[in-house]
Amino acid sequence: MNHLIAPSLLSADFGHLAQDIEMINRSETDWLHLDIMDGVFVPNISFGFPVLKYVAELCQKPLDVHLMIVQPEKFIPEVKALGAMMMNVHYEACTHLHRVVGAIHDAGMKAGVTLNPSTPVCLLRDIICDVDMVLLMSVNPGFGGQKFIEHTIDKVRELRQLIEESGSKALIQVDGGVNLDTGRRLVEAGADVLVAGNSVFKAPDPVAMIHELKSL
Ligand code: DX5
Ligand code: ZN
Repeated sequence: MNHLIAPSLLSADFGHLAQDIEMINRSETDWLHLDIMDGVFVPNISFGFPVLKYVAELCQKPLDVHLMIVQPEKFIPEVKALGAMMMNVHYEACTHLHRVVGAIHDAGMKAGVTLNPSTPVCLLRDIICDVDMVLLMSVNPGFGGQKFIEHTIDKVRELRQLIEESGSKALIQVDGGVNLDTGRRLVEAGADVLVAGNSVFKAPDPVAMIHELKSL
């Protein structure tokens, strides 16, 4: 499968969100990645559902929602109401991950599980066949524009092996510090979906950058 590109709205110009979403709509973007934070699970707060309601109305691409919050299962109805295609929850935020994944599916969405940089891939062994995607964080979550953690490349290879051995259909997504260099190496290692914030929205020509990332 050709890899997918999911620009992260966190790096957009919040004063002109409609313009940036219009750019996303006419680009080769596959999914729009939305980062929701709570100031507890991560040391930052981004945007919440009242803002995302307008984003969802304007955006013509599938929505990939990354919840960096404690007790993400509380917000399954709100994420569903956005019309989200994918709901990503953190492994570290879910004591009863299997139950949460089931509840996301019952709501009619695809379920993704996200690992922080320090959480090993092997912990996914007993859930890998139940999830639609694994998101590997390649920075500590909370902020855009951070430096890519190189060890993520090894984790992509390890996850690819776990998926193949188990017969899982899960996609591999990577988020944090993705640019043309790290993106190319991630795709070579087996990544299916690249999230890109700063490298897209701070580029002189974001549509051209999305095209370049898509062409890796
Ligand atoms: C970070 C978020 C990312 C962020 C990536 O916690 O999950 O999605 O927007 O931004 P860049 O690509 O600039 O590292
Ligand atoms: Zn994210």
